[in-house]
Amino acid sequence: MRITSALVDPALLDLPWSTPLEQWPAEHLVALPQGISRHIVRFVRLGGYVYAVKETGERVAEREYDLLRALERIDFPSVEAIAIVADRQTDDGEPLDPVLITRHLQFSLPYRALFSNTLRPETMNRLLDALAALIVRMHLTGFFWGDCSLSNTLFRRDAGAFAAYLVDAETGALHPSLSNGQRGEDLEIARVNIFGEALDLQAAGLLHESIDPEVVCEEVVRRYERLWHEITYEQQVERAARHDIERRIRRLNELGFDVAEVAMSTVDNGRYLVRPKVVDAGYHTRRLLRLTGLDAEENQARKLLNDLDAYRLESDLTDEQQAAHRWLTEVFEPVVRAVPGHLRRKLEPQELFAQIIEHKWLLSEQAGRDVGMRRAVQSYLADVLVHRPDEQAVLGVEVPTV
Ligand SMILES: Nc1ncnc2c1ncn2[C@@H]1O[C@H](COP(=O)(O)OP(=O)(O)OP(=O)(O)O)[C@@H](O)[C@H]1O
Ligand SMILES: [Mg+2]
Repeated sequence: MRITSALVDPALLDLPWSTPLEQWPAEHLVALPQGISRHIVRFVRLGGYVYAVKETGERVAEREYDLLRALERIDFPSVEAIAIVADRQTDDGEPLDPVLITRHLQFSLPYRALFSNTLRPETMNRLLDALAALIVRMHLTGFFWGDCSLSNTLFRRDAGAFAAYLVDAETGALHPSLSNGQRGEDLEIARVNIFGEALDLQAAGLLHESIDPEVVCEEVVRRYERLWHEITYEQQVERAARHDIERRIRRLNELGFDVAEVAMSTVDNGRYLVRPKVVDAGYHTRRLLRLTGLDAEENQARKLLNDLDAYRLESDLTDEQQAAHRWLTEVFEPVVRAVPGHLRRKLEPQELFAQIIEHKWLLSEQAGRDVGMRRAVQSYLADVLVHRPDEQAVLGVEVPTV
């Protein structure tokens, strides 16, 4: 028996490797929901963790192991590969198939298990959004899945949001980028798989009666296409259309995408071509610190940077560093200073600014246009901040004043 693994948990050695997976004694196994699969898959509990063990071919196991590790390196939402166990044999010397071990994704359910009688239509919409977002994210990184299905996708709640994860990478391939043809092919495979599985579930009486298999698979494709467009289209805007750009970035944020920066180029007579760039987590904190020296939480940083980018767009500054400096001195600091000393202790400056931007957004939505910072600050001070508890007092730490 031979184990290939990045971190060998010695407890793995104690599993009954000389027995075919199908006959493993119940004492090692945990019963958890799983999708349908060609291979035999079992869950085992070892030292506080649950692992998924899949019996498969050696080449296939190696390929999938390498791909899952590559996906992990780029922080892609997929299950984590732990080890390959090869050269297994029975006590009589009969060869046994190798296994691939992955870490069981906690609190997850296969998509297939969710499409049951109890699924409400609004929940389904959010599930399909999460699935479409997973495929879009995948295609943005150049990953061709080749077998997207309701069994090969796991679902998990993520801080109040819905998130989808890839579980089966066997047929996948990581490219520098995908052509439209490759994306279309991958999506067609997903459509056919999902349609087939939804029909199966329906035939077995497991699908909610209001759910139509044809609609489910078409919806995944439609949501994917909308999201892909939302992320990649180039938008022509007027200088004054700041609110439109903000709306687009917010839509992407709501769909779970972080927008790093807005790539802009001047077209003519004051119009701009805008295209958001989507990135991975932690990016905003790092970028804000690099540009402004402000250290903020990821969500705060994202809001501050969105404002900075919109400011850069308005003020004709192409140099990022220079725009950041001007934004800091002409927007951020004046806003923080506009807060009277006795109210300033209520919130950290970064949080204060983030909340004012949020407030400005709400006012602008009501007005149907950008209401401007001055009005937002005044309204925030008068209507919101005075009613807030004193954060410094609550936290018991000194909050620096800017
Ligand atoms: N790490 C994991 N965490 C949670 N569930 C898992 C994990 N690995 C496998 N599963 C469950 O086991 C099922 C089968 O696994 P998998 O899709 O890898 O098998 P397969 O035989 O390669 O499938 P296919 O027939 O699509 O090729 C999945 O649908 C999923 O429900
Ligand atoms: Mg599978």
